[in-house]
Amino acid sequence: MFERLDAVPADPILGLMALYRADTDAKKVDLGVGVFKDARGETPVLQAVRQAEAAVLARQTSKTYVAPAGNAAFNSAMEKLVFGANHSVFAADRVRSVQGPGGSGALRLGSELIKLAAPKATVHVSTPSWANHVPLLSNTGLTLARYPYYDAGKGAIDFGAMCQQLSQLPAGDVVVLHASCHNPTGADLSQAQWQELLPIFRSRGLLPYIDMAYQGLGTGLDEDAYGLRLFAAELPEVLVAASCSKNFGLYRERVGVLHFVLDKPAAALNALSQEVRVARSLYSMPPDHGAAIVAEILGSDALRDSWVRELAGMRDRINGLRRRVVAKLAEVAPRRDFSFIAKQQGMFSLLGLSAEQVVKMRNERHVYMTEDSRINIAGLGEGNLDYFAQAVAHVL
Ligand code: LMR
Repeated sequence: MFERLDAVPADPILGLMALYRADTDAKKVDLGVGVFKDARGETPVLQAVRQAEAAVLARQTSKTYVAPAGNAAFNSAMEKLVFGANHSVFAADRVRSVQGPGGSGALRLGSELIKLAAPKATVHVSTPSWANHVPLLSNTGLTLARYPYYDAGKGAIDFGAMCQQLSQLPAGDVVVLHASCHNPTGADLSQAQWQELLPIFRSRGLLPYIDMAYQGLGTGLDEDAYGLRLFAAELPEVLVAASCSKNFGLYRERVGVLHFVLDKPAAALNALSQEVRVARSLYSMPPDHGAAIVAEILGSDALRDSWVRELAGMRDRINGLRRRVVAKLAEVAPRRDFSFIAKQQGMFSLLGLSAEQVVKMRNERHVYMTEDSRINIAGLGEGNLDYFAQAVAHVL
């Protein structure tokens, strides 16, 4: 029966990883998949993670199952990290959480929950958005639509067009927002813009579904959560999918969590029971190791402090690189304005090259970025910044 299956094109991000690995040129530059890299071009295991991992392994006496909802200490520590320890959702007992296999798994869990509660709801995703949002959110059978987000000419959010479209959506539709470090544009909503969006969500009865994949890598742990904390305090229902891949550097351990904030504790409990069944039917129980590490870090003042310092180091490196990329491009390609890169945040920015120019960068200069010209800023550094800038000037 499987002979009937046709081959499908490779995923735009994972396919690029494979092309990069196969390239034998010594000068090759990987600006593709979103992983943090240090000044040596390595993606390190954080010190806090190493210490927490050692403690977890020393204490562990069994590998028996955890539970379909995951590690309870992890879920609760993540709630405090994401919403802030004193958020009103805790006093009102409005939040429940399910650990997911990565932030992607959490996004899928949220989509399943929406499908159960409102199978006819349309999920609106920004243009552009992370490529994998589309299958993760729509393969459950939900209808997907797009709303305008980014003005490539200005290198900034087209907030007017975004608000205009959201103001016309029917009640009960779902709007996916990036908490911070928008993927792929790096253009984030300001606090004032989050405040302006709030009455639109309230008056239209829209459900915000917030993807928080980069907490702490934009401005700071609290600042990056500003919008979702505001929405969770002010709106009756909010879904949040959080990932620990980037900020804890736990990519391959697949650690994420879905938080659902509902109006009433009883509704939150019912939704939790549904999610547990969804998890059981998809993968039964999530992996434990990464979640145990995060719980260990967030449960210890010393480890948490060490992690917060390392996270600040990653953030500072990316923000410093943004300024250096702008300066270097201004030097070698002065006729094109790239200053928007320094105003954006997180791992990514869109260079604004055509697909042909992107392919030329890859074929003639061995510089790898996704076809929309998204670059992982952290992939740049002392060793390759000049080379990268010359390659951009070459294709321009
Ligand atoms: C990315 O956007 O590159 C990351 O989120 C990794 C992935 O899974 O696509």
